[in-house]
Amino acid sequence: MSTKDVIYAEAVANYTESHLIPAAPELDHAYSNSTAHGIPEIAISPAQGKFLSLLTNASGAKNVLELGTLGGYSGIWFSKALKERGGKLTSIEIDSARLDVATQNLEYAGVKVPEEVEIVLGAGLDVLPQIAKDIEAGKRERFDFVFIDADWDNQWNYFDWGVKLSMGKGSIIYVDNTVRQLLESGSVGPNKKDPNVDSLVEKVGKDDRVEATVIQTVGTKNFDGFLLAVVK
Ligand code: DHB
Ligand code: MG
Repeated sequence: MSTKDVIYAEAVANYTESHLIPAAPELDHAYSNSTAHGIPEIAISPAQGKFLSLLTNASGAKNVLELGTLGGYSGIWFSKALKERGGKLTSIEIDSARLDVATQNLEYAGVKVPEEVEIVLGAGLDVLPQIAKDIEAGKRERFDFVFIDADWDNQWNYFDWGVKLSMGKGSIIYVDNTVRQLLESGSVGPNKKDPNVDSLVEKVGKDDRVEATVIQTVGTKNFDGFLLAVVK
């Protein structure tokens, strides 16, 4: 395998994004306002935002669950897609300062908070059981798309919750940064792996509830990749 052309990844991202993604000042603002408030520059790329919005529309998703609001950049992409069907994004964020910046960025983009995007403050593993109770009580709908982009050590826990809170057959679970976590945790590459901890990929591979794949990515940022699963 030759990877010599990877040096062009950033140029390809810039070229393709310039032709396929219309200028959107509200998205640029979400990046710049997040940076101005000290939020790390780890939001998804424009190409990834477009991909998520295409997946949302292709699947006809109406209720999206996001783990990790950050500055609301991905939230703007989801809400653009969901607007077509009157859908809603529910996004969980652990950091109240980030929640405030995300609210600013979403409102700047014309998104109604909380009607179109509801941000729930708290740690994912505290908030998810509450959301499950709300669903049981008929106060919330199940999710047909779950976007996991929060603390990497909990990817599997969020995935498991995502499947449990999903509509069922055909629901989509997308886990950002799967490849970097595999490298960081030593499942692949030189880092030392904890033999007692199975990776997300090992667990998903044994999970009869879903079919899944991992797609590696390059772009304006790092080498990385996401896991995409569909509930059976
Ligand atoms: C990084 C990238 C991400 O997409 C993320 O969610 C967290 C961290 C990073 O590059 O460090
Ligand atoms: Mg991420």
